Amino acid sequence: MGMKIYVVKFGGNAIRGKADLLRLSAEVAELIRNGIKIVLVHGGGPEISDEMEKRGLIPRKVAGLRVTDDAALGVAEEVLLSLNRGVVDALTESDVVAVGLPGYLCTLCRKKEPYTVTENGEETTVDLGLVGEVADVNSDTIYDLLNSGVTPVIYPIGADEKGNRLNINADTMAAGIAAGIDCEELITITDVPGIMTDVGDPSSKLDSVSLETIDGLIGAGIISGGMIPKVEACRGALNAGVRAVRMVNGKDPRSIITDIMKGVPHGTIITK
Ligand SMILES: Nc1ncnc2c1ncn2[C@@H]1O[C@H](COP(=O)(O)OP(=O)(O)OP(=O)(O)O)[C@@H](O)[C@H]1O
Ligand SMILES: [Mg+2]
Repeated sequence: MGMKIYVVKFGGNAIRGKADLLRLSAEVAELIRNGIKIVLVHGGGPEISDEMEKRGLIPRKVAGLRVTDDAALGVAEEVLLSLNRGVVDALTESDVVAVGLPGYLCTLCRKKEPYTVTENGEETTVDLGLVGEVADVNSDTIYDLLNSGVTPVIYPIGADEKGNRLNINADTMAAGIAAGIDCEELITITDVPGIMTDVGDPSSKLDSVSLETIDGLIGAGIISGGMIPKVEACRGALNAGVRAVRMVNGKDPRSIITDIMKGVPHGTIITK
């Protein structure tokens, strides 16, 4: 391919509002000028929950994944589309040629079957409803955009082979896409410094952690909530051959992606 592609995912708590978006866009613009290709994937967890509450719906999550019925899916799709426009606008302002697209235009997803989770040491079977995972990636769609100088900005609404829409966790979508293309690195921008062994203590952040250690941390309830799908997504990406997987803090005033490419230590690196 000859292209160096980075998949960059960010969530609604990490990058919120115009100022954050413009800061990220400026970095993306600089990287693109240096010949690097970026695929952006964004979530919108807090914004979706806020909007559900405004409409009298009760947001519910199990092990970091949103239980999704028709109403929740409708809200998620609406909120994500509106967030997506904001991201594309900020990139455009930074002279990045960007196009927003839903996950279903570049992936095939399948509904997640009911499964067993262990959260805080307790085992339960959950049916998340209209929640999916990535089964396949239309890599040509992504390569064609990148080759044309266009930065794809993907929001995590997927669809199964019958066209049924599915809500996909943004980390799951980002890692699925990273796994399906020739990707140098998956960078997840979140609202914590990285994986911590004590969530209340930023100094407990791990610089580097193996998948095996992660299993222990999940089992002990130290990794919980939104961090569970995040590390599971990272596991999938690593196992699929993504060369590096990293988690960084979007609130860090240092330039994130640029630093990483220069080898400046940031966040938590996850290794096999
Ligand atoms: N061991 C841990 N180390 C760090 N964070 C943890 C840990 N366990 C749980 N977390 C939680 O995981 C959260 C990050 O996941 P979350 O899903 O909330 O955000 P996001 O994925 O960045 O955004 P979005 O879901 O909108 O895409 C952190 O804010 C933190 O509260
Ligand atoms: Mg999340």
